[in-house]
Amino acid sequence: MEVEQILHMNKGDDETSYAKNSKIQCKILSITKPIIEETVLKILAHMPKSFGVADLGCSSGPNSLLLVSEVMDVIHAEYSRLSEPSLQFQSSTLEFRVFLNDLFSNDFNTIFMSLPEFYDKFKQDFKNSITSDEGRPNLFISAVPGSFYGRLFPTKSLHFAHSSSSLHWLSQVPPGLDTALNKGKIYISKSSPVCVFEAYSQQFQKDFSVFLKSRAEEIVSGGRMVLSFMGRRCSDPTTEESCYLQWELLAQALMTFVLEGSIEEEKVESFHAPYYAPCPEELNLVVQKEGSFVADRLEAFEIDWDGGADLDENTDNITKETIAISSGERVAKTIRAVVESMLESHFGEDLMMDALFQRYAELVSDRLSKSRNKYINLVISLIKN
Ligand SMILES: C[S@@+](CC[C@H](N)C(=O)[O-])C[C@H]1O[C@@H](n2cnc3c(N)ncnc32)[C@H](O)[C@@H]1O
Repeated sequence: MEVEQILHMNKGDDETSYAKNSKIQCKILSITKPIIEETVLKILAHMPKSFGVADLGCSSGPNSLLLVSEVMDVIHAEYSRLSEPSLQFQSSTLEFRVFLNDLFSNDFNTIFMSLPEFYDKFKQDFKNSITSDEGRPNLFISAVPGSFYGRLFPTKSLHFAHSSSSLHWLSQVPPGLDTALNKGKIYISKSSPVCVFEAYSQQFQKDFSVFLKSRAEEIVSGGRMVLSFMGRRCSDPTTEESCYLQWELLAQALMTFVLEGSIEEEKVESFHAPYYAPCPEELNLVVQKEGSFVADRLEAFEIDWDGGADLDENTDNITKETIAISSGERVAKTIRAVVESMLESHFGEDLMMDALFQRYAELVSDRLSKSRNKYINLVISLIKN
């Protein structure tokens, strides 16, 4: 089954929603902010009269409008910095077209509801500069539902495309994994045969290439992209960093239900995470092979599983244990907000989600009480030829 039919972040704003459990993704956005700012400034140097921006995989919640905010803040700061703003900044005809993209089942309504307040913020900021007759910038936000693994926007309509915490989702489970090849696991693990790793790597390369090819049609020459997503630093797929322990712990939690007889082992064996954390070499290879973009920056950074609790060498063991338990619960809520729709679609009502994520939280807490685990994120900045 295609991922676009089964994946959506938990909707609304209750305790299990993505809106309430996306702090880690917000932190990732704040880490890449300087790269976004630098990129927007470079585009501004050739200021287009109508600036097209897309956020791919925007989801819904407090992070959905962060990119637009950042872009507008850069423009406002640049305007304020110039004592005699150049003509283009004074022009009331300057316009910003912002496209928020996600899959069809995304909760776009929640984003739309927050737009009046969002537009109001800019009325104040842009009072003396690029405003329309209504007293706000010519900022036109629209939603474009559909998969980013394919065309979404008109030809040469974008100057800047951005995506955060989304491109590690594949378009589908790699073909050929539908046997018990990966016993008791739901993603690449140390015990996975080479063919499992190869299937994942090939699916990623195919998807990322389609992604680049699609954006190449939509982005003007000299336009830019900043993409950040889960990855790994080393090319060896069998290291701890590569195997993405969080899937391993989720598999362990699922197996406890198998032992109790409430779900079939076959059900766990046929679940494969449609996810892949690539290494920099794989990314560069696809960019070069596809050929429409040049990478001008590629970096890896670490982020704590729980977004960073206050722990230092002097913290005593009891406090460490308490922090590990609450961190485990936080991590479990974050993962639940992202993967629940997929688990529900595969396991149906037999799987009790509250119990699963309670067990998962315990496994994560146990892990975090022994070591401070980190995610590795990659950020790549690309220029359209
Ligand atoms: C973890 S959320 C990240 C949301 C937001 N960018 C943030 O930083 O908080 C990942 C988003 O990517 C979306 N996504 C996954 N695959 C996609 C695809 N092929 N096309 C469009 N969106 C996709 C998911 O629906 C989800 O909303």
